Amino acid sequence: MKNILLTGGAGYIGSHVANYLLDRGLKVTIIDNLSTGHKKLIPKKVKFYNCDIANTKKVAEIIKKNSFDVVMHFAGVIRVDESIKNPEKYNFINYEKGKIFLNTCFENNLNKVIFSSTASVYGNSTNKKVSENSKLKPINPYAKSKLKIENFLIKNSKLKKFKYIILRYFNVAGADKKLRTGLISKSSTNLIKVICEVAIGKRKKFKINGNNYDTKDGTPIRDFIHVTDLAEIHYLCTKYLINKNKSNIFNCGYGVGYSVKEVLSNINNLIANKIPIIYGKRRLNDIASSISNTKKFNTCFKWSAKNNSLKNILKSSLQWEKKQYKLTNKKNKFKIFL
Ligand SMILES: NC(=O)c1ccc[n+]([C@@H]2O[C@H](COP(=O)([O-])OP(=O)(O)OC[C@H]3O[C@@H](n4cnc5c(N)ncnc54)[C@H](O)[C@@H]3O)[C@@H](O)[C@H]2O)c1
Repeated sequence: MKNILLTGGAGYIGSHVANYLLDRGLKVTIIDNLSTGHKKLIPKKVKFYNCDIANTKKVAEIIKKNSFDVVMHFAGVIRVDESIKNPEKYNFINYEKGKIFLNTCFENNLNKVIFSSTASVYGNSTNKKVSENSKLKPINPYAKSKLKIENFLIKNSKLKKFKYIILRYFNVAGADKKLRTGLISKSSTNLIKVICEVAIGKRKKFKINGNNYDTKDGTPIRDFIHVTDLAEIHYLCTKYLINKNKSNIFNCGYGVGYSVKEVLSNINNLIANKIPIIYGKRRLNDIASSISNTKKFNTCFKWSAKNNSLKNILKSSLQWEKKQYKLTNKKNKFKIFL
């Protein structure tokens, strides 16, 4: 049975991946300091340590006590807006602490790592699909902190004798089919999360931040990947690291872009009342278009996505919100057409 150490497992993506791995018979141990994570998202079958990734003593103890095959590093801070206001926090937690954590792993012979990076390392790609060798031009401190860890991994792999997979996620959305886990956040900036909160009546209106971008309808375009497909990608990369023992970098997306207005129109088809919208200014350093070229991963793994329908992403997100706010069918302001 393969044994995985996973940081950030009380968060949105880490908890999904943990469930996915457990469903396939892998053993999972989670390290999370619960700074933005939620204990209720942690699957019951994992061993959980409430621990900061930079607590070298405790992390070393955990690694020595177990025999991990692969470490997946999800833990970090993820808000672009906050990173612009407080770049030091992002550099400290994502880069400095990330480096301390990874060095602790390598010093204790845990030498296969899957790192959660982001499509925002590409910066503004002006409507073109970006591939793994496209230019990297991060335009906010969050993306810069992620790129610094990528470079740390690439530069030190030979010297410190480890292999890495860097996964550049595009926009992650959706919830677990069994609704065991989904996105919980008090003040999320995640587009689909915010729209779903309006749909269930938690927020009054949806604000479109800028409609004068150089895109088909003036609103930003994103490539949404279902979190369950992303979890499968982590599972396949685990097998790749164990069987091939090779480093690599992969985009994680579908290669299809939807504008904010297209997402709205798709969700309006699923609910009884239309989402009320208002227009606001562009967000600082927001990217007009972010779409992946997915050829590298799909070819290397002969993979095709199983959940790549915007409708299904939206449906599962709505169902998750519905569960979260414990609305009965009678009280619901919306109806999900199945
Ligand atoms: N959500 C997305 O669309 C997206 C897109 C691209 C990349 N990513 C990356 O994926 C990873 C996971 O994202 P998420 O959406 O699940 O975020 P999340 O905020 O839900 O989860 C992050 C988890 O890390 C934990 N954490 C933070 N700092 C820690 C520390 N110092 N020690 C221990 N635990 C710590 C938090 O408590 C939380 O449980 C992040 O690295 C993020 O940058 C996410």
